[in-house]
Amino acid sequence: MLFDLYLPGRVLFGPGSTYRLGEEARRYGNKVLLVTGRRSLKESGNFERVTMPFVTAKLEFALYDRVPPEPTLEAVEELRRYLREEKCDVVVAVGGGSVLDTVKAATGLFYEEGTVKEYFYGREITKPKFPWIAVPTTAGSGSEATTIAVLKDPEVPKKQSLRHPFWLPDVAVVDPILTMSLPRELTARAGLDALTHAVEAYTCRFTNPFSDAVSREAVRLIVQNIYTAYTVPRNRDAREKMMQGSFLAGMAIQSAGVGAVHALAHVLGARYDLPHGLACGMLLPHVMAFNLPLVEDKYAQLAVTAGIVPPATPAPQAAERFVGYVRLLTTKLGLPTRLREVGVKEEDLPSIAEEALTASSMARNPRRASREDLLNLLREAF
Ligand SMILES: [Fe+2]
Repeated sequence: MLFDLYLPGRVLFGPGSTYRLGEEARRYGNKVLLVTGRRSLKESGNFERVTMPFVTAKLEFALYDRVPPEPTLEAVEELRRYLREEKCDVVVAVGGGSVLDTVKAATGLFYEEGTVKEYFYGREITKPKFPWIAVPTTAGSGSEATTIAVLKDPEVPKKQSLRHPFWLPDVAVVDPILTMSLPRELTARAGLDALTHAVEAYTCRFTNPFSDAVSREAVRLIVQNIYTAYTVPRNRDAREKMMQGSFLAGMAIQSAGVGAVHALAHVLGARYDLPHGLACGMLLPHVMAFNLPLVEDKYAQLAVTAGIVPPATPAPQAAERFVGYVRLLTTKLGLPTRLREVGVKEEDLPSIAEEALTASSMARNPRRASREDLLNLLREAF
């Protein structure tokens, strides 16, 4: 068996770990560029949590709070321009997957001469990245543990990942306290993205002992805590376990990859601005049902690990129960379950299937899917 591992070099995990941001940033110099989304961190109280350590460490910092909810090529280009002019020593990205991915690509292409668009469409990346620190505020994308930035070219529209082995953050500060104020709907969507990562990484075609171990544990943590984190947002233990789960799931997809859910979710995200976690949550049970004949034992293992069925349950029954659990989950989390409810048009389904067929993550799905298979799957989800 051959496999490559790209793991974050330095991870500070735990409630309150944000207070160490100052000492970490100081290793790179005196000036920090703090990058956030447009929704102010101030409402959640996280702005003080993140900036106090800079003040304590006597660091100068500039704020860039213009990352859009959906990271476009233009958003990366604009941040890269700003970063070049601002002359800081390190970037600290605080936010969900969109903020982390935007910063990852902007720092990754900092020293490159071409446009962001050129690299998105295949130009080779040869230069090292600019230093950055990842501080996730959602338990979802796992971007702090990956070399992947999912970006969108709205002109096509097309959504795909841009990645490079250099692109992991220099430090990941993973503090579940930052997720405590996350609204319920965002908690649910992010959690479904993380669950999809864990399930797809555990069952895809290129698993390895490392991805097996971390994705299985990620499924357990997420299944056992997602509903509590949603219903009792201030439950610290559930928030911490969700953060552990999304971080492990991030490492798992970095190591093994994803599958058909992500292939389809990216097409839907590009065309309809559908939030990524919601698209994943709606598609996951249908893709799982399609993959079931090839990965029954794996679903059964996950069902036992997560405590959905007792250990002695026969594999076919255990696997079915796991798919059933996932099918009910999106409803329990108060989210729409049908593509038609979120603006997807029935006449678009054939071209969505066509486009997803050639996505790179499709090649990693455990069961080969034809155009017809994907179309049937989309119809079931419609
Ligand atoms: Fe995802």
